[in-house]
Amino acid sequence: MTTVTFIEGDGIGPEVGAATRRVVDALGVDIDWEECQAGAGAVEAHGNPLPPQVLESIRRNKVALKGPVTTPVGTGFRSVNVALRQELDLFASVRPCKLLPAVPSRFPSLDLVVVRENTEDLYEGIEFEMGSKEIVKLRGHLKYIYGYALARDAGVSVKPISVTATKEIVRFAFDYAKTNRRRKVTLGHKANIMKFSDGLWLDTGLQITESYRDVGFEAVQVDELAMRLASQPDDLDVIVLPNLYGDIISDLCAGLIGGLGFAPGMNFGREHAVFEPTHGSAPDIAGKGLANPIAMILSAELMLRHLNRAGAAERLMRALRRSLEEGRVKTADMRPEGKPSTTEEVADSLIAAIEGDQ
Ligand code: NAI
Repeated sequence: MTTVTFIEGDGIGPEVGAATRRVVDALGVDIDWEECQAGAGAVEAHGNPLPPQVLESIRRNKVALKGPVTTPVGTGFRSVNVALRQELDLFASVRPCKLLPAVPSRFPSLDLVVVRENTEDLYEGIEFEMGSKEIVKLRGHLKYIYGYALARDAGVSVKPISVTATKEIVRFAFDYAKTNRRRKVTLGHKANIMKFSDGLWLDTGLQITESYRDVGFEAVQVDELAMRLASQPDDLDVIVLPNLYGDIISDLCAGLIGGLGFAPGMNFGREHAVFEPTHGSAPDIAGKGLANPIAMILSAELMLRHLNRAGAAERLMRALRRSLEEGRVKTADMRPEGKPSTTEEVADSLIAAIEGDQ
């Protein structure tokens, strides 16, 4: 029996989480769920959006399946997600974007993977608020060191990119490409403008390529990358990016495969792995049965593979593909004609398909 930490999260989290658990349980895998609360619900219950027992549970179990968590406004926490990634050193975010049958898309087929550095860059949280005493000091230092005059009405976020973190994520992307028999790694950057952050990212990435000559490689400016994704995405394969660009480009890729409801994700550290959909808590549709649980179900499928339950993962994918192909699953975000499948009906269809496959 393997114990997995389960965080249902906020908004649509409980709905997509319950559907996912029903589907995984229908596979008959020996997984025991250890339920933990994080996010807005945890603030009410524990006065803390990320109670220490959540981190203890993930540290103990090494693997978690997590729903989306709302970032509470006006507390000391910037984001539970950022805190989780930093606490557990989940340095790599991996978001496979593969088009499923019957899902509307501008492209006939798509199979990309976005690998995003998860711990530094503009998301590290080094920020200076406009008008604060800290920014007054910063302005003074910048003036003293560089003669640079920072505008008095500016706020500042700092973009640290280190050699150590860059080496780790670029190696991770190449290892992922090799293990998963992918043909090419594309490294996105804006080194022409940000010479000391993105420039360092590019130079360090280029050094790493020396050890992976058997995998294709190209370095592309991130603006050109966005254009290529919109026009010829099948030319791309594994894309490795610093944190902010990775966040934006992975949502763009989700849009190419039918939207956030179809985009799974996983976060890896040296010891821990947290599987979660790319989407947020979608408060606009929470409680209406409209949420597409497929992104979370696909995240669970990736988790099953990580836990060496490849047979169960394949049965799950067969059930999902067949249910979509045969039109038994038509989620609201697929904009079907007629009544869409509710969140629960998606789970019901998949469970019926899994049972019919035994
Ligand atoms: P969001 O991803 O929750 O929603 C964006 C749009 O996509 C909405 O129109 C929503 O209805 C739709 N959508 C999202 N997931 C869907 C699904 N499974 N099925 C059908 N439609 C879906 O992004 P938003 O609105 O910017 O953020 C809402 C909250 O979620 C915020 O508090 C944000 O901080 C949090 N968030 C949490 C994440 C996480 O826990 N990993 C990731 C992103 C946002």
